[in-house]
Amino acid sequence: MSDAIDLNRLPPAEECIRDVRAWLAERPAQPLAYLHSFGCQLNAADSEKLAGILAAMGYGRTDDPAAASLILYNTCAVRENAEDRVFGTLGSIKRLKTDNPALILCVTGCMTAQESVAEKIRKSYPYVDIVIGSSAVQRLAQMLWAHMHGMRHAWDIETYTDIPEGVPTVRDSTFKAAVPIMYGCNNFCTYCIVPYVRGRERSRDPQQILDEVRGLIADGYKEIMLLGQNVNSYRGNAEIPDFPALLREIDRIPGDYWIRFMSSHPKDASPALMDALLECSHLARHLHLPVQSGSDEILRRMNRRYTTAQYLEKVAYIRAKDPHFSLTTDLIVGFPDESEADFEATLDIVRRVRYDNMYSFIYSRRTGTKAAQMEDPVTDAEKSARMGRLLALQREIAVENNKRFVGRVMRVLCDGTAKKHPGHVTGRSSENMLVEFPGDAALIGSFADVRITESHSGALTGIRITDEG
Ligand code: SAM
Ligand code: SF4
Ligand code: F3S
Repeated sequence: MSDAIDLNRLPPAEECIRDVRAWLAERPAQPLAYLHSFGCQLNAADSEKLAGILAAMGYGRTDDPAAASLILYNTCAVRENAEDRVFGTLGSIKRLKTDNPALILCVTGCMTAQESVAEKIRKSYPYVDIVIGSSAVQRLAQMLWAHMHGMRHAWDIETYTDIPEGVPTVRDSTFKAAVPIMYGCNNFCTYCIVPYVRGRERSRDPQQILDEVRGLIADGYKEIMLLGQNVNSYRGNAEIPDFPALLREIDRIPGDYWIRFMSSHPKDASPALMDALLECSHLARHLHLPVQSGSDEILRRMNRRYTTAQYLEKVAYIRAKDPHFSLTTDLIVGFPDESEADFEATLDIVRRVRYDNMYSFIYSRRTGTKAAQMEDPVTDAEKSARMGRLLALQREIAVENNKRFVGRVMRVLCDGTAKKHPGHVTGRSSENMLVEFPGDAALIGSFADVRITESHSGALTGIRITDEG
């Protein structure tokens, strides 16, 4: 039977969903699926679609892999440790497959788009049943259909470039929603695997985005995160040509909600984008602007296409209009041949911009990228020591920065309870600051006005103004 199945000629996804659903309905109990997403928020957004397709096929969900009849991993390839985690997980799951040969094990996401990884899975983890290439959420039902029709290994590592519209979606939250607006990347930063595993940039139709955002706001969502590897290179149509225009159009939708977006490439962070950010009332007052390095020579070798002077000009533009505007960044420590002077230039830019938060990573060599060919005499010990220095500096800056919020009333979107402080609620301010205050879990999912009474390096604490004596 399996020989007769041609993966390029599978029935349409809707037909496969119907068939698999009918097939599963014959089981004595509802089969459960375990879905785990590694990596970035774009992967998490893809996983919400995978969850939607699983639900449409009739699967229930479980947090326990041992209770599942289908296990699906959505993988990340951005750094070696991300891949190692996936391989470790695949190794540990073998026992479940041995105990229950009917268990269906699927792998999708960015790792599968690399031929070498696919080969490793084929050789070292032959018990993986289904492999689906990155950006191919809509292939899940079809590949499952092929497997259920006797194809022992249903493998398709193609990176798909069509934009998934109308795919059933099960969202993780009832008040924060991720909305991808573009997929892929054309920038080819020399250290980065993403353009190779996610393909070229493609933008969603602006009307589709607006309809989705309108629907989410009508459903009571309080925070919409617009996502793309490089959101500000979004290209729309004649009426809504670019990202600043899209932001202004979304901002016109009435309602009580915040809009955030990630990530912006500094080369495309135009004055028009920053003006939209400052002028639109629904836009959160925070910009994540990954600088990666403070050394012009390293930025050139990273192919980032901006200089530190150009980056600082953008920071000055926004801070001239709002001196306290919140900026966060990504930084890579130990790019090949990073000298002590290069690293000190990174410390210097961090001191100048005074970020509220940063995500810093030790450079990880990615096979297939340009930087993988570069000489790298810097030792791992030196890289770790530099990372320690960078983190210490950032902690110092955060402690100082956070003092500016004490005494202010901040609007906070409540998102959880404080694990260490029973009876306290946590949330994020418009500036994306973590805020904790005494409150009831019933507040989760709503806005609260909190007067900040104390600041720490990683969080602010306060009291709701309605609770003030
Ligand atoms: N498109 C986004 C941008 O350019 O800001 C970043 C997307 S990437 C998934 C997130 C972060 O991972 C990057 O900003 C970079 O700091 C880090 N990163 C990417 N490749 C890396 C590598 N090979 N080693 C270490 N960090 C890396
Ligand atoms: Fe990677 Fe650079 Fe694209 Fe970001 S902009 S995804 S770092 S290649
Ligand atoms: Fe990882 Fe792919 Fe995102 S490589 S960071 S999951 S785009």
